[in-house]
Amino acid sequence: QLPKRVDVYEVGPRDGLQNELRTLPTRDKARLINALVAAGEKRIEVTSFVSPKWIPQLADAEELLRLVGRREGVVFSALVPNLKGLERAKEAGLQEAAIFISASEAHSKKNINKSIAEALAGAREVTGAALQAGMQVRGYLSTVWGCPYEGDVPVERVVDICRQLVDAGIYQLSLGDTIGIGTPRQTEVLLEALLKHIPVEKLALHLHDTRGTALANALVGLSAGVTTFDASIGGLGGCPYAPGAAGNLATEDAVFMLHGMGVDTGINLDRLVEAGEIAQELIGRKLAGKYLQAALGE
Ligand code: HMG
Ligand code: MG
Repeated sequence: QLPKRVDVYEVGPRDGLQNELRTLPTRDKARLINALVAAGEKRIEVTSFVSPKWIPQLADAEELLRLVGRREGVVFSALVPNLKGLERAKEAGLQEAAIFISASEAHSKKNINKSIAEALAGAREVTGAALQAGMQVRGYLSTVWGCPYEGDVPVERVVDICRQLVDAGIYQLSLGDTIGIGTPRQTEVLLEALLKHIPVEKLALHLHDTRGTALANALVGLSAGVTTFDASIGGLGGCPYAPGAAGNLATEDAVFMLHGMGVDTGINLDRLVEAGEIAQELIGRKLAGKYLQAALGE
């Protein structure tokens, strides 16, 4: 029995654009976000309030939030790594903060210059302060299926960190296959272990499609009752010049499969293709999304 309805959480403007070589002008980002809203997307991660030295592509977070404003029924979110980021986010009127930590020490160090324990403490601090400021807070755990530096990540560690993150007060926890290395049986085992401790409504899957397994893993999640899937328009993010980087599960591929299986998303697939076309035009190359290429080739 599949869920009747799932949420797609769009990460193209954040995860996609942070991994593209070309930094888009703010107005182009806003144009893309407007197209996603026009397609019926309701949850969009638009940028990050991280250090501009670390992610220069998203240095215009404040200006972008000003440009996109607020939309009825749509929640714009952004990554927030620390209290400094939260101050910026508050000032910019952000509705939802997304905290993020890793399940492997080496990735944690490389990504945010903190150990897992330090990152957990920081995530608690930011979550508490964001809730107090009236924002809702989502959380990510990265390298759940494997780490680019350490390889396998033990399921027990993942479960332990997930429990701590949920206890910190986030409303949803998104499990990251950061390097797109997960396979379906692994996803089954992982979800089985997690669902003993965490209600399925709290979980989302954030699958990068580096090795072509994102949709298969999403299907395993859907069968296990997961009802939120992160996705990126056109599979944005697979910069061909950045070795190892690859985009997320393409939003149109996910929506096409879901609709075909009788699962509603509230998104208009044709309008989504239009948004994908805009993304391609802005980024200046063909994107990886399979449905997008098929639709544009027709
Ligand atoms: P640090 O260098 O250890 O921190 O960076 P610091 O506190 O010493 O700060 C260094 C400088 O950055 C200082 O400026 C701070 O003021 C400034 P300076 O004195 O040198 O002029 N700074 C900031 N500026 C603006 N906004 C801020 C901020 N914080 C400090 N919020 C830090 C630590 C966490 C800041 C840094 O490592 C960072 O920004 N990392 C973010 C990296 C990132 O965005 N990674 C990608 C997102 S995660 C991801 O993609 C995975 C995900 O998609 C899930 C998955 O796929 O698995 C979510
Ligand atoms: Mg990601």
